[in-house]
Amino acid sequence: MEQLSNTAGFLSAILFITANAYYPAKLIARHVIGWDKEMTIFFSKYLKLHISLNLLALFFLLIHAHYAEEKTALLGLSFVVTFLLTLEGVLMHYKVFPEDNKYIRMLHTQQALFWIWIGLIIIGHMKVI
Ligand code: HEM
Ligand code: HEM
Repeated sequence: MEQLSNTAGFLSAILFITANAYYPAKLIARHVIGWDKEMTIFFSKYLKLHISLNLLALFFLLIHAHYAEEKTALLGLSFVVTFLLTLEGVLMHYKVFPEDNKYIRMLHTQQALFWIWIGLIIIGHMKVI
């Protein structure tokens, strides 16, 4: 089962990276290149990818984490944060709580949470790989 876990981990990593390069790409577009109408069109298409690839990545992550040989507290925390980010994304996108959508958006697009998420995944794996 280690092979299955490794393959699923690799797939979820590729998918998470492609899906969430959305955010740094947006920062670069806004602050380095400059925003124009074409950027708006590009990023509205990229947002669809951000959503579908993140959901697919979570699916592979479940397989990866379930069959992983070791389960440490940090890796567990990285899973919880991934799940929360995905949940916030779904709640925001589908406007499940319309009155609270602006708070959910604030949480989901928080840059601190984004970098903490990446940090947890990297540091969490340093002891197991
Ligand atoms: C949050 C997103 C995560 C990503 C993108 C990710 C990705 C990866 C990748 C690419 C590998 C290397 C696989 C290889 O050696 O071929 C790996 C290894 C590993 N990951 Fe993750 N991982 C994540 C979360 C987790 C979680 C939550 C756990 C534990 C519950 C975990 C446990 C492990 C373990 C133990 C290994 C070492 C190889 C093994 O025993 O399977 N990972 N991970
Ligand atoms: C681990 C998973 C995820 C991470 C790390 C993540 C991260 C982010 C970040 C950092 C932003 C802000 C980008 C900006 O400043 O414009 C963002 C925006 C967004 N995300 Fe996610 N996201 C994830 C999953 C999802 C999912 C599953 C959905 C929907 C089902 C989603 C929907 C959205 C939407 C709609 C926006 C645009 C918000 C706006 O209009 O400004 N995200 N995401």
